[in-house]
Amino acid sequence: MTSEPTAPVGTTLRRGEPLPAELLDDAERMPREEVEALQLHRLRRTLRHAYDNVDRKKFDQAGVTPDDCRTLRDLARFPFKTKADLRETYPFGMFAVPMSDVRRIHASSGTTGRPTVVGYTEKDLSTWADLIARSIRAAGGRPGHRVHISYGYGLFTGGLGAHYGAERAGCTVIPASGGMTARQVQIIQDFQPEIIMVTPSYMLTLLDEFERQGVDPRTTSLKVGIFGAEPWTEEMRREVEERMDIHAVDIYGLSEVMGPGVAQECVETKDGLHVWEDHFLPEVVDPITDDLLADGESGELVFTSLTKEALPIIRYRTRDLTRLLPGTARPGFRRIEKITGRCDDMIILRGVNVFPSQIEEVVLRTPGVTPHFQIQLSTRGRMDHMTVRVEAKRGAGPEQREAAVRAIAKGVKDGVGVTVEVVIVEPETLERSLGKLRRIKDQRGA
Ligand code: DLL
Repeated sequence: MTSEPTAPVGTTLRRGEPLPAELLDDAERMPREEVEALQLHRLRRTLRHAYDNVDRKKFDQAGVTPDDCRTLRDLARFPFKTKADLRETYPFGMFAVPMSDVRRIHASSGTTGRPTVVGYTEKDLSTWADLIARSIRAAGGRPGHRVHISYGYGLFTGGLGAHYGAERAGCTVIPASGGMTARQVQIIQDFQPEIIMVTPSYMLTLLDEFERQGVDPRTTSLKVGIFGAEPWTEEMRREVEERMDIHAVDIYGLSEVMGPGVAQECVETKDGLHVWEDHFLPEVVDPITDDLLADGESGELVFTSLTKEALPIIRYRTRDLTRLLPGTARPGFRRIEKITGRCDDMIILRGVNVFPSQIEEVVLRTPGVTPHFQIQLSTRGRMDHMTVRVEAKRGAGPEQREAAVRAIAKGVKDGVGVTVEVVIVEPETLERSLGKLRRIKDQRGA
């Protein structure tokens, strides 16, 4: 797939324009039954590999052996794995191959406790590059395109994951990493990339910098943004597409399962992310009861790897909330709906579940304010109190600010069902993202 460019560089993809068939991987063309047959074969092999090398105790305790998996549905009999399991065996206890076969290590920092450490064999790295390349093609990238990568390079899987995948796709990589925002804007103008891979919140930081430097972001060479590593909303898509005149598509993944490129949104449909099901088997479970849910029902996403060698992972609890839908642009693969939040990010405010993404939706449709906001949680009396701090747009006067306060408070009350305090702050006063943004400042009990 890395040979001749088939579409001229700079071709604007219109919605509904499918990827030329010659750019699809074989697996992307498989009918559903064939995908499932491949999954079962690979699943049985992975269960055996995990049992023989890392998960014997866990399987024994649950009273299952790899031979108990005869159909894909039998996977539900196997025990879950959690971040805690990985932490307990820190750093390398979950590796299922000799250390000498591990070619790369990544780690996810996490907000509490030890990081989780993940490893890759040479073959794992190659599969990962293939899947990112497939994701870039699904996003509209073609051989010969330049790809500006602003995901952080280092132990985080974003930068290096995207890097080797973009090279595999036959693109020219600009490894910018995160930070040095003014210089990134200069580089984008000078090097003329068609594609940018970055967290959506850092894209906003870059957008502000374009405007600060007096450059109209709609005039850059960029045509596609591949955004992930944190939740973002349809309202954010509209904002970024409008301000930059690009296609904004979603990429999903997590270190424990591989890194970016587990699932990808296709530019021609922009209707959620196709899971690359030839390598990962998704399930959705009820986060409280652990019961398996049917396709279409919302719950916690669980992943089983189907080809990984260094770190086979069985039924990993992602904490991410979504639902499974049938495939569209790639009919053989199911989609996940855009992820609205994580179980861990859910704020329970006076009994009502609130996600930062719901606040984002309201802020982004309010005139007079920027997309920059922060959620502060505090205690007033015995009650939890939420303050949404939102930056005013430059030039927004007192009346417009007051109208914004009312509109946001009403939008949250009507849409989410809770009363929040809204404070409009001066332009450029809230913390800017350099990668993944933490929107919630929890001062309860402080
Ligand atoms: O964030 C991998 C990645 C890098 C994905 C670059 C996409 C682009 P971790 O640091 O292990 O790995 O964090 C994984 O980030 O469980 C989700 O909660 C969140 N996440 C990742 N992609 C998305 C997305 C990388 N598209 C955790 N939408 C996951 C919403 C996302 N949340």
